[in-house]
Amino acid sequence: LILTQDELKKIAAYKAVESVQSGMVLGLGTGSTAKHAVDRIAELLHQGKLKNITGIPTSKKTHQQAVSLGIPLSDLDSHPVVDLAIDGADEVDSNLNLVKGRGGSLLREKMIESACKKFIVIVDESKLVAHVGASGAMPVEVVPFCWKFTQNRLQSLFDYAGCVAKLRLSNGGEDGEIFVTDNRNYIVDLFFKKDVGDLKTASDAILRLAGVVEHGMFLDMATTVIVAGELGITIKNK
Ligand code: A5P
Repeated sequence: LILTQDELKKIAAYKAVESVQSGMVLGLGTGSTAKHAVDRIAELLHQGKLKNITGIPTSKKTHQQAVSLGIPLSDLDSHPVVDLAIDGADEVDSNLNLVKGRGGSLLREKMIESACKKFIVIVDESKLVAHVGASGAMPVEVVPFCWKFTQNRLQSLFDYAGCVAKLRLSNGGEDGEIFVTDNRNYIVDLFFKKDVGDLKTASDAILRLAGVVEHGMFLDMATTVIVAGELGITIKNK
């Protein structure tokens, strides 16, 4: 029995939705894994198995998906406390620290997932890493104003880790258009050749730079990680 990566994502998503109860205010994640969770929540609502759900979408894309599925929506202004959020991640380490934002939705995700009583992360096993930041982009959302200046400052901050900072382009850069987030900001992706060291220190240093809005390290936020693999589901709790 060979499952595709998308089937594994769906298995993790459906498992997470088992924790949803009627009456909850729910953070709705973004990405190909979270999409399955939103579909499943809508399905249970339409079957009458869930009632009175209020969704708080973490991106314009998820907002559109939820509207098209008829999920009642609100926002953090009206619902500053979220019962549960379910979202994917790009990397997950053994301490349940995450890298998120390769889809570009890190700021709204972090705002909503920081306001949650419970945050379930859903991934297929390919997302598991020994150290977050070790494989691929660490996204940083920056204001467009003098983005090169901010990009250079970010790169020098992590000179010791062989950091290369690159402005994200849309469509893989083919048309040279700059990728713009839902909040009309840009993203600088950080690539490290060596270990960045203490993650909290790295996080604080990034956030101290004027010009930075937020970054994709989600430290100490996930309460549960559901991993779907060829051999079944693994659930890790904080
Ligand atoms: C969106 O900005 C990201 O944080 C996503 O949650 C992350 O990229 C995971 O996406 P997939 O489920 O599509 O891998």
